[in-house]
Amino acid sequence: MDKFSLAGKTAVLTGAARGLGLEFADALASAGANIAILDVGNPGDNLEKLTAKHKVTAKFYKTDVTRRGEVEAAVAAIEADFGSVDINVNAAGIVKDEPFLSTSDINLSSTFSVNFVGSFLVAQACAQAMVRKQKKANGSNGAVGATHTTNGSIVFIGSVASHVPTTVQNISVYCASKSAVRGLVKPLAMELASYGIRVNSLSPGPMKTDMYKQVAAEQPAFARQVERETLFGRVGNPDELRGVMLFLCSDASSWMTGQDLLVDGGATSWNYPAA
Ligand SMILES: NC(=O)c1ccc[n+]([C@@H]2O[C@H](COP(=O)([O-])OP(=O)(O)OC[C@H]3O[C@@H](n4cnc5c(N)ncnc54)[C@H](O)[C@@H]3O)[C@@H](O)[C@H]2O)c1
Repeated sequence: MDKFSLAGKTAVLTGAARGLGLEFADALASAGANIAILDVGNPGDNLEKLTAKHKVTAKFYKTDVTRRGEVEAAVAAIEADFGSVDINVNAAGIVKDEPFLSTSDINLSSTFSVNFVGSFLVAQACAQAMVRKQKKANGSNGAVGATHTTNGSIVFIGSVASHVPTTVQNISVYCASKSAVRGLVKPLAMELASYGIRVNSLSPGPMKTDMYKQVAAEQPAFARQVERETLFGRVGNPDELRGVMLFLCSDASSWMTGQDLLVDGGATSWNYPAA
């Protein structure tokens, strides 16, 4: 059996209208997963592209992940439309460059709302759906016993910034919000193991998304420094995270739960040169 196959599975991805989330959606669709995207922004023709390229079903549910009511309604609609939830990837996130000494309340509350509370609410709703799936399948209370590791996979997106701060940005609130996200991984892994649900996080280093390209064009000194911070002198390409995401979401990682995978081009392997 191909342990990387996601044929017939339903993956719920937040923040996948664009950027890394969209790359993750494409990676999972390439392995056969049907895709449900929760985002405040519209994915435009990206859904049609996913469907045409991978012959899977892809649907968009306009959802603000910070609002419990919207999240629960979206997950209920996904269960009705797709039949189950098998995978959840939480990529919706925001970041604001603001020095600690003058950080605004709005930055503090909005960053934690989207990055931490949003990830929490969506993971909770998806885990409840995964438990419902088990209840339907075996008529029990949803618990499947600790030997079963393949009922569901939840992946949070952390950041290298929650391991070590870069010298080029003042993003203490973002770093702390991503540490809080990573703080969910072990307790959730423990609580959900008996339902056959695995919980891990992926912490990427700086990646060349459209947003990065725009910032790099406007601030070349910023880009030069970020590139110097990895061991390869460049930032990562989004497609360099496809393999690790597929691994985390599929049965290929059936023995892995409660862990953070730091994929950063070696940025945290040395004392990188300061700006
Ligand atoms: N790009 C990088 O270099 C990098 C590095 C490490 C971690 N990350 C993390 O990866 C994730 C994706 O980053 P990206 O660079 O693709 O960002 P991005 O800004 O391109 O995409 C983020 C998506 O989240 C959505 N979003 C924002 N607020 C939302 C809300 N309240 N409800 C629903 N959706 C919302 C946006 O509409 C957008 O589609 C983020 O969590 C980010 O912190 C990015």
